Amino acid sequence: MVKYEGAQRYLPEGRGLAELREAAGRCRGCDLYADATQTVFGAGPQNARVLMVGEVPGDREDATGKPFVGPAGGLLDKAMKDAGIDRGGVYVTNAVKHFRFTPAERGKRRIHKKPSRGQIVACRPWLVAELEAVTPGVVVCLGATAAQSLLGTDFRVSQQRGELLDLPGGEARVLATAHPSAILRAPAEDREQAYQELVKDLRVVAKATKAA
Ligand code: URA
Ligand code: SF4
Repeated sequence: MVKYEGAQRYLPEGRGLAELREAAGRCRGCDLYADATQTVFGAGPQNARVLMVGEVPGDREDATGKPFVGPAGGLLDKAMKDAGIDRGGVYVTNAVKHFRFTPAERGKRRIHKKPSRGQIVACRPWLVAELEAVTPGVVVCLGATAAQSLLGTDFRVSQQRGELLDLPGGEARVLATAHPSAILRAPAEDREQAYQELVKDLRVVAKATKAA
């Protein structure tokens, strides 16, 4: 694994979301800042009861600076609505805050690339700081990258998806489910079922938040 300096030394003294976001804009904790347009920090209210973690910003997110505003975000918004989760009470972020991509031909959409283990580890201090600032009741890991950042590399989404677990070292519960992009990439005949499984997992989150 390529080791990077990591984000820790870029963290500000004040740990409110606004201060964190500002400081993250200057992070050079790994190599991803160099080719991306900007840091895509999390978004949502500091008092959110649910915090959702994706993988890495995509093309649209890199351009706008906001998480989950592209096709995956559209699907996630719909799934939250179908599951009865109030979108306004959710903080969304990513395990890695800079877009990683393979350069595309001119004028084409750049293709997102999975962050490396070293980049996930380097960026983790921002995610931990967001968790500490928001103190959500439930954390949702969207896909394996988020789950491995928060639950360790032995965690398998396929084996434990949809289960409410205790977040190690925290007060929150945590649930892992599929990444919305995986649903968009699924073969057409499997897509509806994959979507319904995501909604089913998010209903567990809706119920847990209401009970808390
Ligand atoms: N996929 C992610 O994991 N995060 C985003 O913000 C957008 C797409
Ligand atoms: Fe810093 Fe994370 Fe961006 Fe790497 S990906 S430069 S650790 S904010």
